[in-house]
Amino acid sequence: CGIVGYVGGSDAGSFLLNGLRRLEYRGYDSAGVAVHGGAEINITRSVGRIDALAGELGETPPAGMLGIGHTRWATHGPATHENAHPHVGGEGEVVLVHNGVIENFQLLKDELIKKGYEFKSDTDSEVIAHLVAEGLKKTPENKEQPNMRYVTAVQWAVAQLRGTYGLAIAFREKPNMIIAARFGSPLVIGVGRGEYFLASDATPLIGSTERIVYMADHQLAVLTPEGFSVLHRDQGKVRVDIRPLETESNEVSLEGFDHYMLKEIYEQPESIRNAMRGRLDEQDATAVFGGLNLTPQQLRGVERIILTGCGTSWHSALVGEYLIEELARIPVSVEYASELRYRNPPIDNNTLVFGITQSGETADTLAALRETKRKGHRTLAICNVVASSIAQAADGGVYLHAGPEIGVASTKAYTSQCCVLAMLALYFGRMRHLSYEGGKRIIEEMQQLPGAVQQALTCDVQVRDVAQKYKDVSNVLYLGRQYNFPTALEGALKLKEISYIHAEGYPAAEMKHGPIALVDEHTPSVFIIPHGTTYEKVLANMEEVKARGGPVIAIASHEDPQIESIADDVIRIPSVPEILQPIVSVVPLQLLSYHIALLRGCDVDKPRNLAKSVTVE
Ligand code: G6P
Repeated sequence: CGIVGYVGGSDAGSFLLNGLRRLEYRGYDSAGVAVHGGAEINITRSVGRIDALAGELGETPPAGMLGIGHTRWATHGPATHENAHPHVGGEGEVVLVHNGVIENFQLLKDELIKKGYEFKSDTDSEVIAHLVAEGLKKTPENKEQPNMRYVTAVQWAVAQLRGTYGLAIAFREKPNMIIAARFGSPLVIGVGRGEYFLASDATPLIGSTERIVYMADHQLAVLTPEGFSVLHRDQGKVRVDIRPLETESNEVSLEGFDHYMLKEIYEQPESIRNAMRGRLDEQDATAVFGGLNLTPQQLRGVERIILTGCGTSWHSALVGEYLIEELARIPVSVEYASELRYRNPPIDNNTLVFGITQSGETADTLAALRETKRKGHRTLAICNVVASSIAQAADGGVYLHAGPEIGVASTKAYTSQCCVLAMLALYFGRMRHLSYEGGKRIIEEMQQLPGAVQQALTCDVQVRDVAQKYKDVSNVLYLGRQYNFPTALEGALKLKEISYIHAEGYPAAEMKHGPIALVDEHTPSVFIIPHGTTYEKVLANMEEVKARGGPVIAIASHEDPQIESIADDVIRIPSVPEILQPIVSVVPLQLLSYHIALLRGCDVDKPRNLAKSVTVE
């Protein structure tokens, strides 16, 4: 979910709406704003996208110089008008928006109901609104510091919450004050002149202010047109750093493409080039990174690497595992961030933990990094969004420089992640066993990558025909081995995400231990089978599927004459060395899912139920 807030001398509405549009990557199933009109707080909510909210607000939206807003990714209760934020507490004296999950909400709700509070939604967030109202009831007025009563009420309320929250709270009696509170869900304050902004991340602030404060856990902030102050939940005022807003503009247009996803698929030759720019050192046959923040001694001492992330980023971690183990001979383990954060595996001292993330805001990845950092391990981020929460939480890292990725299904960020991991493998390899010759060869091969991806994109027309043929199936298997196994997983995920067709990725040889039972004439199998060590083996796996009547789509090298006699459909890709195949082989799979989704009439850029970045656990 995403939060925005404004207090100052201008109308709040336009900042709220624009800010929410920029936060839509955090969820888009419903949205709402509350604007303080002086005497009353006007609330507008709608189911669906921010555009729907804008429509609801119409030509003459409620005016006011204080407002809060929210875009939701449902956790408790379906995406309905009632469950959309802002939520109202008490008799309307408190209005708030919330990001996070309150784990003990049922208990608190039961108590509040006993006290006579009436609930209008199924959300955990409404509980907080009533709790703050209850807090106000308990707190006498403070004539000398009138705002303090409200701060005390919020302190009292949040002290009872178990879970995570980023909160922006407005009060009917205070047309000039917002209180913000944070635990576990990022919040930033934009510092303007006579106006202050609040948001879940820095992107809504671009263009409004250049000064930013990153709130820390357990902090509360009081924002008025006269200024802002930050307090620790129970230790009083704290000094905060006002920092320059460091972020890349995220204003992007479709530039003639029908969808962002397609545009981003086509940007890959360039985004890969950007990931490599200035990082390949031909002189020393290695890679160079500016932001790892580790001494050469520390880097040479690394004995184990953990790669963690979620979704597509987890798939690039799998590619990283193959790459780093092969080139650098460092043992790598790949962990789902959501598992790692609670798993507590034994981790040796000389272990380096990489959090891989496009957005830098995924709650589980952030928590996994924090947890490993707490235990004394060095944590680095491989991240696309500059100055995002994870980029800041890590000790250092590598930016992807892929540019904004808008389509919910990740494409260019994935290939850039694979590319960065290949360079890291080269870098660690050259500090250990990899020869000068070997390093040089890899650099030359990497330099060919943008061209190879460009060439892979020419399969688009043919992929469209394949999509037409298979668009109505209900199940698809994606199979590949070694470097092509993560690609199989990623291909299947892409199809699931945007076309809602069930798909499974499997190691091609492992499929005979289960998934082969699914094979019939209605279940196509996509084999990722470019030339390489296991080519013949995968060919045999393909025969096994054919023998059972399953249609076969092959992603194969241009120089492969025999594949046509087995596969029903062949999509050709240029030959690259095995270690770089993930970056090229995934391209036709991205296009396949795109075209199938389009033919099925799905919303490619904003598929149902998903969010670009999941900011709750
Ligand atoms: C969500 C998105 C996925 C993405 C994953 C991790 O589930 O829908 O496309 O791969 O989050 O996101 P991150 O920003 O951490 O890479």
